[in-house]
Amino acid sequence: MARTTGTYSVSTVAGEKVQAFIPRPLPPEGPPLVIEGNLAKLHAEAVAAVGRLEVAGAMVPSPDWFLYGFVRKEAVVSSQIEGTQATLQDVVAYEATRQSDRPADVEEVCNYVDAMAYARKELANPKGLPLCVRLLSAVHKRLMKGVRGSDKHPGTVRTSQNWIGGTRPGTARFVPPPPEAVPEALAALEKWLHGDDPLPPLAKAGLAHVQFETIHPFLDGNGRIGRLLIALLVEHWKLLSSPLLYVSLGFKRHRQEYYERLNAVRASGDWEGWTSFFLECVRESADDGVATARGLFSLVGGDRRKVAEHTASTLMAVRLFDLLPTHPMVTLGRSIELLKTSKPTAVKAIDILRQMEVLHEITGKRRDRVYAYKTYLDLLAKDTGITRG
Ligand SMILES: Nc1ncnc2c1ncn2[C@@H]1O[C@H](COP(=O)(O)OP(=O)(O)O)[C@@H](O)[C@H]1O
Ligand SMILES: [Mg+2]
Repeated sequence: MARTTGTYSVSTVAGEKVQAFIPRPLPPEGPPLVIEGNLAKLHAEAVAAVGRLEVAGAMVPSPDWFLYGFVRKEAVVSSQIEGTQATLQDVVAYEATRQSDRPADVEEVCNYVDAMAYARKELANPKGLPLCVRLLSAVHKRLMKGVRGSDKHPGTVRTSQNWIGGTRPGTARFVPPPPEAVPEALAALEKWLHGDDPLPPLAKAGLAHVQFETIHPFLDGNGRIGRLLIALLVEHWKLLSSPLLYVSLGFKRHRQEYYERLNAVRASGDWEGWTSFFLECVRESADDGVATARGLFSLVGGDRRKVAEHTASTLMAVRLFDLLPTHPMVTLGRSIELLKTSKPTAVKAIDILRQMEVLHEITGKRRDRVYAYKTYLDLLAKDTGITRG
């Protein structure tokens, strides 16, 4: 369905004149977006899958259990969409060792995890920031912290013209609104998010993402903040009680289509096409989350029984095992700390879990050894390998 979703205005960047796109505020108009027919079917399927994910997330003793892994999975995959080379294992290894020479790619993913935690804390606090542009700017500040982001104006909405794709603005695939149009466009998005648009919340989260990407309010990090926005909205609108949906997995698997669908909204007003793509990504990611949660649950259940029933087992070995879902890699130092025990007792606990092939030493070194719950990490990290190109 063709509709006009905005206007073009001439903007000058690096001495070149370009057609910058100013989106109309949401909701889609002329005609409106209606969730009916096939879209209604896709919507019902996506909502049902998210519901199954909520149930799967509740089957474990601690809500932190899947949250630890799933938030990091989303952080890694969302960062990978734009070229980060860090893997989930790299991030978990860094958290276990806190080595001082943290690679920039790992830092980016850790920032993402911090930024998400910060946003959720603010939203959960009655005195904290609501879901608004100020919150997203504060989230951006945390995302861009450190070496690579420092020249990208962390936490501030841009005051210069940017562009997407192409080496110069003249060859860009898309030129977002001129800087002077950005505050108004963001204010309109914020107003719509808090308004009473009767569209279903899941569809609204998808529209908000597109609008955010089209405004492209920051010099960098727009993709990641826009995907974080989806996670925050899904929780805020009570589709899930914690951010277990790693929607970026769907975007990463269908990356070309993801870009094309974003582009088609601006080029031909194809909100229906975007919404059906988005809902399918949500369903796919939620189904993947359910399968992963079930797999991890049964893996841990089986291993725990093995550990508890083994004749050589100790209480500390069982306690260390119980920490693994939220610390899938540990060092000796970290185990002593977590178990609040002596070195010999922690050494023994690690040894027992190694004998049972639950933990594997992964550095091959004699010092600074790192022990990983490899089967757990392999399952969790499925489909998060680095794809180049
Ligand atoms: N044609 C397009 N129209 C609108 N948004 C787009 C288009 N192509 C890509 N994007 C969005 O821009 C993001 C990249 O912007 P960028 O600021 O570099 O974010 P990040 O640094 O988080 O990757 C992509 O992940 C995607 O969400
Ligand atoms: Mg970028």
